[in-house]
Amino acid sequence: MDYRYDPVPAPKSEELSEAERHARAEAYFVAMQSRRSIRDFSDRPVSRKVIETCIRAAGTAPSGANHQPWHFACVANPSIKREIRLAAEEEERAFYAGKAGDEWLQDLSPLGTDAQKPFLEIAPWLIAVFAERYRLDDDGSRQKNYYVPESVGIATGMLLSALHQAGLATLTHTPNPMKFLNRILSRPGNERPTMLIVVGHADDQAMIPRAATIKKPLDHISSFIE
Ligand SMILES: Cc1cc2nc3c(=O)[nH]c(=O)nc-3n(C[C@H](O)[C@H](O)[C@H](O)COP(=O)(O)O)c2cc1C
Repeated sequence: MDYRYDPVPAPKSEELSEAERHARAEAYFVAMQSRRSIRDFSDRPVSRKVIETCIRAAGTAPSGANHQPWHFACVANPSIKREIRLAAEEEERAFYAGKAGDEWLQDLSPLGTDAQKPFLEIAPWLIAVFAERYRLDDDGSRQKNYYVPESVGIATGMLLSALHQAGLATLTHTPNPMKFLNRILSRPGNERPTMLIVVGHADDQAMIPRAATIKKPLDHISSFIE
């Protein structure tokens, strides 16, 4: 590791007119507004190359001390997807049977979700997102990572955005608990699974919960001090 400061020229921001800047911001907002979590997937294939490019986009995310404390395990193998589905459904059965607690289950009811997760087998790709809690050197000694949940959250958001921009449907799925992902995907103990991103195309008959379409307005999610 080289700890010296070695400056290089910063990339130039695109020069846009004020009108172009508004148009770009608006176009991005409109594009993102059409993203919805999908739970009814078709088995239509998605090429590995597209997944790789979207992960490259996620990998450009900012991170604490630039440690990039993430790993994206991408699964298309049917028998591994089946293994993940079976393990996830086992956890989810306990979760929906009461482990979640009344308040959580009540909050989930408008989404219409249950312990059945067929999409884990039907969708062409599952991307398991792992957060590297600390680094392990070649000699086995631990190195600190910083702001790990924040960094991984940003990278995952960028991944969801990139996948959506590529015309793909996604679901952010968090089977609870999901430690089984380390075992099935052979990831080391210093990595914590954070999310399972289901990727593919929505089924022609896919439905979404109306509740998910209602988003807080600007004045509820922001304040401006000028
Ligand atoms: C951290 C996180 C965990 C989530 N876990 C699940 C999940 O386990 N199962 C599920 O069906 N949806 C899950 N979701 C999706 C949310 O239910 C969904 O984002 C929310 O209802 C808003 O809908 P939208 O994504 O269509 O805007 C999760 C979302 C996030 C951000």
